Amino acid sequence: MYPIAVIPGDGTGPEVIQEGLKVLAAVSKKAGFQYQLKEFPYGGEHYLKSGEILPDSAITELKKFKAIYLGAIGHPKVQPGVLERGLLLKLRFDLDQYINLRPVKLYPGVDTPLKSKGPDDIDFVVVRENTEDLYKGVGEFKNKGTPEEVALQVSVNTRKGVERCVRFAFDYTRKRNRRKKLTLCAKTNVLTYAHDLWWRVFNEVAKEYPDVTTDYAHVDATCMWMVKNPEFFDVIVTTNMFGDIITDLGAMIQGGMGIAAGGNINPNGVSMFEPIGGSAPKYTGQNVINPLAAVMACSMMLEYLGEVKASQMVEQAVMKIIPQMKSMSAGKMGMGTTEVGDRVVKAL
Ligand code: IPM
Ligand code: MN
Repeated sequence: MYPIAVIPGDGTGPEVIQEGLKVLAAVSKKAGFQYQLKEFPYGGEHYLKSGEILPDSAITELKKFKAIYLGAIGHPKVQPGVLERGLLLKLRFDLDQYINLRPVKLYPGVDTPLKSKGPDDIDFVVVRENTEDLYKGVGEFKNKGTPEEVALQVSVNTRKGVERCVRFAFDYTRKRNRRKKLTLCAKTNVLTYAHDLWWRVFNEVAKEYPDVTTDYAHVDATCMWMVKNPEFFDVIVTTNMFGDIITDLGAMIQGGMGIAAGGNINPNGVSMFEPIGGSAPKYTGQNVINPLAAVMACSMMLEYLGEVKASQMVEQAVMKIIPQMKSMSAGKMGMGTTEVGDRVVKAL
């Protein structure tokens, strides 16, 4: 019995989570496992009504679950940063989900903007550090509001934080067992403190993994290669900020936010799975958003729970229905959100 916490969140979050849960219900019967859901109301709407973002008591309670299934966080009536910091990043930080795992995989039948690239070329995973760097929130204003103003935002990189992320990436590359190639994406030529640490740790840990081929690319070059030669990549390990940026690029080359999923992983605690697109307010309540990213997040959650077969069944069902869809983009799928979910269930 897996206790799973569900935070549908804002905008289209609840709609896509509903489809994901439909798929979860169907696959649990097929694969023969049991789970129990508990829904939490947190998000922009809840904040506007109650003034509460995410109380510490919720963190304590969430620690009792096996996994968290999250829709989307973000509300047009809430000032930027409030929900991001107070809810999404608080969950990641307080639950110590130090890895953000983001597969970039182009499924057959999905359109990519990369001319002459196909599913064989676009299949890699980004291991993004998820608790440090510029996201730590360390900084200050000096002389705020004056012509002499200086705003500092510090990239915090600890030996422990970098090492556990790099180790996870090496382990993951070995376990993935594809090309067994791990690329460090950083900016060692400019960030001569922070990324010197990353470089040293990467090369040190690499010695323990002689079966894994290592590579290095600056972040700007990584963007170039992701577009020009995405087949170069197997697994990429990178910092929180760079990982945020390159995984949006990754989502685009794999067919858009409609299909891109990610996991916030604490290997020794509670992990959280989410579609990586936002709350998409303009599509809310219209039954036009693509739920496949949420369905794939559910597939990732199942793999992490140890239900590997169920996870693969969901992925295969998704691959089966993709050719029936006109597009991965909201409003252009040739069917509604709920129908996509129904078809995945049927394909199962
Ligand atoms: C993501 C998002 C978040 C991030 C935002 C909403 C804080 O863009 O999950 O990539 O920057 O990590
Ligand atoms: Mn992002």
